[in-house]
Amino acid sequence: KTYRIAVIPGDGIGKEVMPEGLRAVQAAADKFGIGLELTHIDWASCDYWQAHGKMMPDDWKAQLQGMDAIFFGAVGWPATVPDHVSLWGSLLKFRREFDQYINLRPVRLFEGVPCPLAGRKAGDIDFFVVRENTEGEYTNLGGRIFEGTEREIVIQESVFSRHGTERVLKFAFELAQSRPRKKLTVATKSNGIAVSMPWWDERADEIGRSYPEVAADKQHIDILSARFVLQPDRFDVVVASNLFGDILSDLGPACTGTIGLAPSANLDPERRFPSLFEPVHGSAPDIYGQNIANPVAMIWSGALMLDFLTHGQGAGRQAHDAIVAAIETVLREGPRTRDLGGQADTTEMGKAVAALI
Ligand code: NAI
Ligand code: MG
Repeated sequence: KTYRIAVIPGDGIGKEVMPEGLRAVQAAADKFGIGLELTHIDWASCDYWQAHGKMMPDDWKAQLQGMDAIFFGAVGWPATVPDHVSLWGSLLKFRREFDQYINLRPVRLFEGVPCPLAGRKAGDIDFFVVRENTEGEYTNLGGRIFEGTEREIVIQESVFSRHGTERVLKFAFELAQSRPRKKLTVATKSNGIAVSMPWWDERADEIGRSYPEVAADKQHIDILSARFVLQPDRFDVVVASNLFGDILSDLGPACTGTIGLAPSANLDPERRFPSLFEPVHGSAPDIYGQNIANPVAMIWSGALMLDFLTHGQGAGRQAHDAIVAAIETVLREGPRTRDLGGQADTTEMGKAVAALI
């Protein structure tokens, strides 16, 4: 089978790290005999918006629908397009219209990467954040009453559906079950958010009954955040609602060095739609144009893509493991980009990873 990949660099350093992501993915695909058909796309970018007054062509969904995956750089160029316009006009449309209800973010501390937490070494931190990606606290339901007066009231609703909640919990239990430690932490706040969160906890208990081997515990988001920093070695798989997951999945990578390393997968596990693989970081206008961005987050996202395409088996799993092993070696031995204290540019670091693959 040949996999069809839509390649969307987007804006800023998305355009600089994408060639390195592709270099590594292609090297691994060639080595393990995985066929890839790449379609290069220049929309879903602020350049496109400047020329056309919108982020994407009207038939964007039809163009992407038949793809097996979307390999995505970063979107946003606040100097020309407001961030809510660029984000809601592209990436958030992909996540919602393609029902990519899982946002999966590995958090791992590598050798050779300075850890901001004292006393931690490679291997101590190795877990996944599973974030609900389509509902929860991120809605536009609500409004302002008595606007501009002293009686002003603002209401913002959250939406938790049984379908949406159970499917993300199920995914997290499955992932925990597949890992040696089989631990799942369920982020909650049922002491303060007294309607949705107790219900979320009940759903977790119910789903958990089908996974007796998984040791699941619930932690309130406040103390859970503190433990990310103080005891990151406790975690194996962490599952959270959209808002809590968003916060945890930035805090996790922050605890393991630099945002330039953190990958993510936006998944439709049922594969009705293409899933999307992207670095956690954005377009970094402050460093764009110098070719100094760290390409590892993009490359690692490519490894997640190959793994998902082949259901975590056979050639795709081997390709994933080869890419991650090459990343490990380069982080340990160099060349390293400046965010890691080195002098190498984006291309040098990317080429070093590809050469090892
Ligand atoms: P950012 O992630 O682009 O940058 C934050 C800081 O991290 C900057 O100092 C940047 O230089 C540094 N950085 C980021 N990636 C790096 C890499 N690979 N290597 C070395 N250093 C790196 O976040 P920021 O500045 O808040 O947002 C900039 C633009 O990106 C905005 O338009 C924002 O909306 C957009 N954005 C897009 C995302 C996406 O496409 N998924 C995610 C986050 C932000
Ligand atoms: Mg975020």
